[in-house]
Amino acid sequence: MNDDLYYLPVKIGNVELKNPFMVASGPTTKRVDQLELAEKCGWGAAVIKQTFNPVPYINYQPRYRWLKKEKLHTFTAEFRLDMESGLRLVEEARKKCREMIIIANYSYVQADLDGWQDAARRFEAAGAQILELNFCCPNMSFNVDVSAKAPKENRPSSGASMGQDETSVRLVLEKTREVTQLPLIAKITPEGGRIADVSKVALGAGAAAVCSVANRLGIPPIDIWNYKKPIYNLQGENTMGCLSGPWIKPLALRDVFEIRKMVGPSPHIIGTGGIASMEDAVEMIMCGADSVGICTETMIHGFGFLEKWMKSLKNYMQKMGFQAVRDIRDLLIQEIKSAAELTVWAGVAQVDPEKCSSCGMCVEIGHCNAIILTDASAEINPQLCQGCSTCLDICPKKAIQMVDQKIK
Ligand SMILES: Cc1cc2nc3c(=O)[nH]c(=O)nc-3n(C[C@H](O)[C@H](O)[C@H](O)COP(=O)(O)O)c2cc1C
Ligand code: SF4
Ligand code: SF4
Repeated sequence: MNDDLYYLPVKIGNVELKNPFMVASGPTTKRVDQLELAEKCGWGAAVIKQTFNPVPYINYQPRYRWLKKEKLHTFTAEFRLDMESGLRLVEEARKKCREMIIIANYSYVQADLDGWQDAARRFEAAGAQILELNFCCPNMSFNVDVSAKAPKENRPSSGASMGQDETSVRLVLEKTREVTQLPLIAKITPEGGRIADVSKVALGAGAAAVCSVANRLGIPPIDIWNYKKPIYNLQGENTMGCLSGPWIKPLALRDVFEIRKMVGPSPHIIGTGGIASMEDAVEMIMCGADSVGICTETMIHGFGFLEKWMKSLKNYMQKMGFQAVRDIRDLLIQEIKSAAELTVWAGVAQVDPEKCSSCGMCVEIGHCNAIILTDASAEINPQLCQGCSTCLDICPKKAIQMVDQKIK
């Protein structure tokens, strides 16, 4: 392995990233000083904040909430770049960043395809090394479709509304392919549950890579005693939130897994969603990702954590005998079995009376009639225990363990 801590190369089309870590498009890729810092911290690539062509019909100063306990980030109000600012940002970033790959993320919000072609040409001229076409933003037409009273057909379709429709995605990619040789990434929405099918179409239409996932649209927690007050500060109304952060990871892993199974081993997949540790990144790669996009974690902690991640990743790879990211990729694809292929063997829970404090928490478990509390400790009737292991997870004293074989 190369001695440079940050060197662990992956490729998107013909473009090499020095490592698979990418700052995903969002509030940490809006300004050139952020991109310079990301480069200094060793990131493989950064995807600039979404640029709209023309200026979007919904654009606000940002209003965010980071709900630490829920590990959930949410927002509705967000500011996107106009075309001129996006182009300038790419131009300046290319001057400042020698190694980090600069990726332009953009959308066009009209029915014709000319604006997509125009944006591709102009971003290429500005120096973008890869183009990411945004078929994922849930916060424009999709938000309005889901939350507003007005009929759907009055609005131009973009982002997550568009990304569920193979025909639109295919046409945009084919048209874009006509005007640029740069690698194209299709960032596709998980909304609608069609991400794997649409990814296949996108790759067939000329995308070098697909990226999954963006934010999911949902209703963030409210104060039920004061339900008219939104959870956001400096904002008047309750809204659907664009959700991200660690809570999304299991869904994001599934999406990447499904895409990899659908598209086979060749295409590059950028796994994004809820990555907050080196271990999360490895899980994502094991589920089929070639590279890893990170947004929320960079909002909360900046870019400097990459050094620690790279050290622990290299250490992990050495111990496991992995030479390259590709050696880790897809390892879970064969491991994850369908419900029909499951093996479940007999076993029961047992209490260690020495550790049990008789707190009674396990006796409260609603689906279990096997546990009673005696004077000394909790006791489990092996004839009634079904081996589910909920009690083991509930016990605060770690007094319960599972043992194989139901009846000894
Ligand atoms: C505040 C905010 C703004 C975002 N803006 C964009 C954007 O402009 N373009 C885009 O493709 N994705 C955008 N995203 C989505 C992220 O790039 C990423 O796909 C998503 O947040 C999931 O990853 P995470 O859990 O690491 O944040 C944004 C996310 C957040 C939280
Ligand atoms: S393993 Fe499940 S069924 Fe058995 S005692 Fe614990 S909670 Fe009850
Ligand atoms: S939860 Fe644990 S400590 Fe509490 S009664 Fe059950 S076994 Fe004992």
